[in-house]
Amino acid sequence: MPQHTFILNGKPVTVDIEDDVRLLWVLRDVLGVTGPKYGCGLGVCQACTSHINGKAFNPCSVPVKDLGPADEVTTIEGLPATVGRDLHPMQEAWLEYDVAQCGYCQPGQIMSACALLAKNPAPTDGDIDTAMTGNICRCGTYNRIREAITAGAEKF
Ligand code: FES
Ligand code: FES
Repeated sequence: MPQHTFILNGKPVTVDIEDDVRLLWVLRDVLGVTGPKYGCGLGVCQACTSHINGKAFNPCSVPVKDLGPADEVTTIEGLPATVGRDLHPMQEAWLEYDVAQCGYCQPGQIMSACALLAKNPAPTDGDIDTAMTGNICRCGTYNRIREAITAGAEKF
């Protein structure tokens, strides 16, 4: 089977797996990294949102063959280490605002929120709504998400 190497949460990993297996299944089923959630598997719900080279992406839509040894994938598990803390400031804001309900969509929401702040450190409510529009929450936590992102932006 082909081998694929990339950097996952700061450490190089190598997997033996067919080229066309999408990264979400490599993360969850092969590497046991289950923070990125499987919702649609089609790049629609954003539940699996993680970062590649600092930008938000959906690993459910990326075949593992598209990754190279220099590509850095960060999942919610690796997010705190990107700022050298036990919890990322955005995760702290999430807790302060008690955002999660069932929690299923929340890793993807937080990863999208951090990608937004990397581009726009002081987003307006409108900016937040536009950036987060693809992240579906069946529990309707959108108002608390917006509040937490605004609070999280002040902590950066
Ligand atoms: S599971 Fe990846 S976008 Fe829905
Ligand atoms: S908290 Fe339940 S889907 Fe978002």
